[in-house]
Amino acid sequence: MKPYLKLDPWNIVEEDFQPHLHEISESIFSIGNGYMGQRANFEESYSGPSLQGSYMAGVYYPDKTRVGWWKNGYPEYFAKVLNSTNWIGIDIDIDGQPLDLANCKVKDFTRVLNMKEGTLSRSFTAELEGGKEIRVEAIRFVSMTRHEIGVIRYAVTPLNFEATFTVTPYLDGDVQNRDANYDEKFWTEVSKEFGEHDAALTVKTKKLDFHLTSVMTFEISKNGELLDIKPELLAKEKYVGFRAQVEASANEQIAIYKYAANVTSRDHGLGQLVDAGRTALQSAAEAGFQALHREQVQAWADKWQDSDIVIEGDVAAQQAIRFNIFQLNQTYSGEDDRLNIGPKGFTGEKYGGSTYWDTEAYCLPFYLSTADSSIARNLLIYRYKHLEKAKENARKLGFAKGALYPMVTMNGEECHNEWEITFEEIHRNGAIAYAIYNYVNYTGDFAYLGQYGLEVLAEISRFWEERVNYVAAKGQYMILGVTGPNEYENNVNNNWYTNRIACWTMEYTLEVLDYLRENEPSRYRELIEKLQLSEAETAKWQDIIDKMYYPYDPERQIFLQQDGFLDKDLTPVKELDPKHLPLNQNWSWDRILRSAYIKQADVLQGLFFLGERYDLETKKRNFDFYEPLTVHESSLSPCVHSIIACELGYKEKAYEMYLRTSRLDLDNYNNDTEDGCHTTSMAGTWMSVVYGFGGLKVKDGVLHLNPFNPGHWKSFSFKVMFRGSRLKVTVGEQEVVIANESEVPADVQIYSKEYTVGGMSHVKVEH
Ligand code: BGC
Repeated sequence: MKPYLKLDPWNIVEEDFQPHLHEISESIFSIGNGYMGQRANFEESYSGPSLQGSYMAGVYYPDKTRVGWWKNGYPEYFAKVLNSTNWIGIDIDIDGQPLDLANCKVKDFTRVLNMKEGTLSRSFTAELEGGKEIRVEAIRFVSMTRHEIGVIRYAVTPLNFEATFTVTPYLDGDVQNRDANYDEKFWTEVSKEFGEHDAALTVKTKKLDFHLTSVMTFEISKNGELLDIKPELLAKEKYVGFRAQVEASANEQIAIYKYAANVTSRDHGLGQLVDAGRTALQSAAEAGFQALHREQVQAWADKWQDSDIVIEGDVAAQQAIRFNIFQLNQTYSGEDDRLNIGPKGFTGEKYGGSTYWDTEAYCLPFYLSTADSSIARNLLIYRYKHLEKAKENARKLGFAKGALYPMVTMNGEECHNEWEITFEEIHRNGAIAYAIYNYVNYTGDFAYLGQYGLEVLAEISRFWEERVNYVAAKGQYMILGVTGPNEYENNVNNNWYTNRIACWTMEYTLEVLDYLRENEPSRYRELIEKLQLSEAETAKWQDIIDKMYYPYDPERQIFLQQDGFLDKDLTPVKELDPKHLPLNQNWSWDRILRSAYIKQADVLQGLFFLGERYDLETKKRNFDFYEPLTVHESSLSPCVHSIIACELGYKEKAYEMYLRTSRLDLDNYNNDTEDGCHTTSMAGTWMSVVYGFGGLKVKDGVLHLNPFNPGHWKSFSFKVMFRGSRLKVTVGEQEVVIANESEVPADVQIYSKEYTVGGMSHVKVEH
């Protein structure tokens, strides 16, 4: 697709309305605040193709599973993030003609996502029947400071005529998910009520009884003067609204201010929902649009203060990285440990809005470095709270002990139903263990291990203990019948990554046990008792670690992705006729499975996670072998390759991979952005800059930086929070400057040399 968005460092800008791109823009221009999110649907009705999407975090529907051939162990349902009450709707009718951009001529159209301030605005001139022209200017945001509040200012000006405008702000709960398995609507009405100045609509899900109350109020002004209007009340099933009529002559502006509160039974008792909604709404409406907007600008300024990346000399790269950071910050704010990060965030229905290993493997580092450590901690606690469910999941699949975390989940239960992933992509368990290590290593919060970490680690280790099998004839342990991170191989034996992460988990669990025995003896004893952990078990883990089989090619000196990998045709991707790519749209599944082509980092994922244990030569040999076979058909792929390429000094490759990850959605590389943005891979983009070009690592409690300038930029800078300090790292053409923006001094190793960066001071190093 030809890029259609204008380059700008702080804004995403679309000029010209192109209906065939509208659903892509609806994803890209989405807004959210961690609590709710909204695709960039139009406020006024639109009869062209559109994917309507208003999402409330943590509100989902267990849609009955639909599969061709049922397999024992499949979950009964797939949890789906729900398209919820449309709170943005404002219908506009001009002298009896509804405003609908699908049915009029649209001129001077601009849509802007202002990432600095967290607002979405749109303006256009519509030519209606008889040459009547109106100008519309709309702006909206979901508040970062008042999570339940969304606000819209929608202004209409007739340009060359006098007319009666009928304005209908409404709440509509009669909405559907496009991905509903049985075309079912998921919401039913509970109540609707009108107050003096507001209307409230309460709906509930047909299953699980999630209640959502939306309350709205509005004001209309003409040329800046508030109008005293008595609107007509509108009510039908799952719908409330107000209808108001306003006369306007040419160039008189009518502005509608709509305030909405969305409150759910996740946070409020059923009997309190309407009151809670009204209270939040009243306070927002009293503050007024301007004050709410100021709060929004300040809240985003604070976010950018902690997380901005500045790239000088390349506006496309600058815009892209800010877009990624913006989406991450509006998807997860980390205040609620019941929430997580769906692969599409709040930008679409695909992947059900559920939690994948993406969170632990890709997203955690972003939140670790750009926010208070309590935020990343909450992501870990989320899994801790699901431990019992993960144990049940293992039992369901026939394991006598241990925990198998689900591939896809909302509430801890597995809801994915493809056997090769649900039952076989068990490496995800390793990522959950790795995240604990990653968090503790980064933050130094060792207390987490005794509080929560060990229980999760021990239960995951128990799972591996049972999942391996001992091959007596070879005196080795193996793991058979798995799918590695590369989903273009199924049911393989001895996926190197899976074997490695399994053993690594057991090693780390044993290390943590030693740590607790020494440092927290009474908590250690309590946990041994609680877990009923025996010496025989830990001895068994050690035996598995010692005798694990890892497929290896002595000739090339590389780890083999799985047994038999070298029997495949190893023609590199670049020798394939490009008409075959992407493989997933051009080849049969069978052909993909037989080929050597790799969807995403697999062996290299292991070398990325466990980078400290492998030398550069090993990484180089494996990268040189696997990268040319990789098609990067998962959005999670290029970032890992970019980071390893940086470490190997492959600057061009690193930059090529970076470009592919950073503008993935803005340039719709994978041709699927209309389904939603690739939110979890955006954290991978962030890692490509900070871990890749910045060379950030944490070893023994010390932050290491090994930055290089990829050569296409004048300079770039990023921020990281580390153990109480906030550092701004600027990498120029010749030097690196580490500025400490906090009072807390930081010890940093730059190019393997130690420095102390005092509070509010900086160090400069040549590179
Ligand atoms: C990837 C998985 C990932 C999922 C959700 C798939 O295409 O292969 O690794 O967890 O998408 O992002």
